[in-house]
Amino acid sequence: MKQVVLELKDLQKSFGDNHVLNGFNLKLYEGENLVVMGKSGSGKSVMIKCLVGLMGADSGSIKIKDDDIVSLGQKELDILRTEIGFLFQGSALYDSMTVRENLEFPLRRNKGKIKTGQTTEELVVEALENVGLVSAIDLMPAELSGGMQRRVALARALILKPKIILYDEPTTGLDPITSKEIIQLMRTIQKTYKTSSLIITHDVDCARVISNRMILLVDGINYAEGTFEELSASEDPNIKAFFKN
Ligand SMILES: Nc1ncnc2c1ncn2[C@@H]1O[C@H](COP(=O)(O)OP(=O)(O)OP(=O)(O)O)[C@@H](O)[C@H]1O
Ligand SMILES: [Mg+2]
Repeated sequence: MKQVVLELKDLQKSFGDNHVLNGFNLKLYEGENLVVMGKSGSGKSVMIKCLVGLMGADSGSIKIKDDDIVSLGQKELDILRTEIGFLFQGSALYDSMTVRENLEFPLRRNKGKIKTGQTTEELVVEALENVGLVSAIDLMPAELSGGMQRRVALARALILKPKIILYDEPTTGLDPITSKEIIQLMRTIQKTYKTSSLIITHDVDCARVISNRMILLVDGINYAEGTFEELSASEDPNIKAFFKN
């Protein structure tokens, strides 16, 4: 039996009368690529923000490895966060910093975490090599294309060599060819670093290529779970809606 590295149980989150999550459950197993699909506004980003503690859930439990994050203090939460890479929706690079400085940022905040004996410079270069962008090291984000920005954001999410990576819409806003490149990079990263990944997307091609398993978020719950093949063959109209182009 594979180990569960992350678990959401009965997660609830409302904004006033807007009940976004109504008892959402999720288990991420070690080494898998789990895709969560849901239509725009269904609560995918809210779910992932609750997961990393950027937003408080109303109720439910959030376990990462064996820790219930609700019970953790700030210090313990910070330590746990360094084991999780987070690719924000839309890249979210710091506009006033160079690529190098964007990558140095998580290193400076987590000095004690670097166990490989590598220097900051070596880590930054290695992270950029992973995404094929060493040449952009001294550029500003505004000088990069959307696809390059996404790759730098990916390098930043990886720089602490996290065991778990959360991707919020990694291919949204990119052209089909660049999307494919990003998806390939995500697969390479999983192979190289043996990470477990939670990928939020509404890109059906991305889901097909990358997922080992999928969860469909509908009406605030984990409406259906299965492999891409299983779900895409379903006759349920709520499920079918995800797979027709
Ligand atoms: N800070 C907030 N305050 C109030 N409402 C919010 C807040 N954040 C999100 N919401 C609401 O929660 C719902 C879910 O938003 P969320 O961003 O999770 O959607 P999503 O599934 O990620 O959509 P998309 O695919 O467009 O990124 C929306 O109705 C949104 O208006
Ligand atoms: Mg979102």
